[in-house]
Amino acid sequence: MPVLVVNVDHVATLRQARMGTEPDPLTAAHLAELAGARGIIVHLREDRRHIQDRDLDLLAQTVQTKLHLEMAATEEMHAIALRTKPHMVCLVPEKRRELTTEGGLNLIGNEGKLRDYLADIHEAGILSSLFIDADPDQITAAVEIGAKYVEIHTGHFADAASDREEAEELQKILRGVELGLDAGLKVNLGHGLNYVNIFHFAHTSGISEYSIGHSIMARAIFTGISQAVRDMAEIIKTFPQ
Ligand code: PXP
Repeated sequence: MPVLVVNVDHVATLRQARMGTEPDPLTAAHLAELAGARGIIVHLREDRRHIQDRDLDLLAQTVQTKLHLEMAATEEMHAIALRTKPHMVCLVPEKRRELTTEGGLNLIGNEGKLRDYLADIHEAGILSSLFIDADPDQITAAVEIGAKYVEIHTGHFADAASDREEAEELQKILRGVELGLDAGLKVNLGHGLNYVNIFHFAHTSGISEYSIGHSIMARAIFTGISQAVRDMAEIIKTFPQ
């Protein structure tokens, strides 16, 4: 069965708006777990604009499901991953000025470098995922790098300006899912998924995890985080294996 993993970065964004102590992403993570999240995700950015090192350290000690760390492939993050030992690291591209992650990694031509980068991480028993666009060449490169998972970027689909564009982007994702599974990868989806567009995947088999943050936290403002997580987990539970 596909599962929901909840990204709590946006709770940290609100806290950092005042550079204070509330709301605490740890509370959000623990409530999300109680409400049916099967994993917690944080993105520790180089500029520390939301999640802080303290958050990651404490989550690594207290998350009861699985902790996934999104990070750029830098030396600093390599050391942090080895120190905190999340269940999985997901390598993402990172630009200083972007509002959020804008697209997938470009793996092509970087296969050797990324394979070496991940070697110690794999050695430490940490799984790896690569956040990529639904591009067949990226999927081939992901296999070469030796990642167990890919996360296919659903942001272009979520941001589509017309039904036609949405349908085209959806087809690319579905094809990418098929190629990834055929290549022996485990496939996750994430970015921009919400309580409406998620239903486009209601008949898609083979997805391991849906990685969702913003729409859940947006709903949580009105319904509370437990209800918002439960609502999404209940939807995903109805999707095929
Ligand atoms: N997956 C990746 C790799 C991301 O960078 C993000 C955003 O932090 C997400 C999933 C979640 O996206 P959203 O917050 O739009 O649900």
